[in-house]
Amino acid sequence: MSIPALKISNLTKDFGGLRAIDKVSFNVEEGELVGLIGPNGCGKTTTFNCISGLLEVSSGKVEVLGQNATDLRPDQIQNLGLTRTFQHTWLWKDMTVIENLLVPPRKQFSPNPFLALLRPNSRKSEKQRLFDAYSILDLLEISHIAHNLASELSGGQSKLVDIGRALMSSPRFLLLDEPVAGVAGPLAERIFQNLSSLTSNNNIGMLVIEHNMDFILRRGVDRIIVMDSGQILMEGTPDQIKQSRDVVEAYLGNPGELK
Ligand SMILES: Nc1ncnc2c1ncn2[C@@H]1O[C@H](COP(=O)(O)OP(=O)(O)OP(=O)(O)O)[C@@H](O)[C@H]1O
Ligand SMILES: [Mg+2]
Repeated sequence: MSIPALKISNLTKDFGGLRAIDKVSFNVEEGELVGLIGPNGCGKTTTFNCISGLLEVSSGKVEVLGQNATDLRPDQIQNLGLTRTFQHTWLWKDMTVIENLLVPPRKQFSPNPFLALLRPNSRKSEKQRLFDAYSILDLLEISHIAHNLASELSGGQSKLVDIGRALMSSPRFLLLDEPVAGVAGPLAERIFQNLSSLTSNNNIGMLVIEHNMDFILRRGVDRIIVMDSGQILMEGTPDQIKQSRDVVEAYLGNPGELK
């Protein structure tokens, strides 16, 4: 059997007396797009923070592409091939969209312009990087704003540029925290479809937090993990999730709408 791209075992995170994540276990395979969903405060972003090394785990294990990543720093985890985006997007406001993609990655630390500029870590030629950047803008359907300043973008466009920046590091695994929040419905749908093809065509693993369950059930995700109060409530294909009355009633209120 192949090694999972991401393997989480009994992940637990306490903030003082609050158990934000409680013995969570799941795998994501290479080439698989998995949605992570659940109500506000159920632990989705905390799970990402533990996986990407931003938070120390209280107990449990995180493995990225077969390597133990549990106690690694964010930059070491990125070197294993895992890249993430943040729920609250941060861009270089005085740079254009294409320039934002060409700036070396921030290594998943909090934004620090000096650190980022000091890390010209790409071995690719300028020409190749430019080609990659334009191809990624194309994939995300935002080529037309390549030369707009980041400060001029809408919230949704900023989100897409942030995904583009994550893709520039040629990740083997991507964690996307609400990547299409604020993106208009039809475009959000196409972006999801594009991410799905990117995942399967390039054998990347992808775990995507999406707030809107109704939305994610209709998109091209392979599997959905539903979290509630720091635990996994259910895991399955969109069809299996749709058929779970518990999940549907808890998160959508109106199962009839899902037909
Ligand atoms: N750094 C922190 N210190 C203390 N408590 C925290 C911290 N980060 C998160 N929490 C708490 O952990 C719980 C899970 O939060 P988390 O941000 O992971 O939820 P979420 O599922 O991402 O929610 P949302 O859908 O609103 O983004 C919440 O009760 C939150 O208040
Ligand atoms: Mg969150």
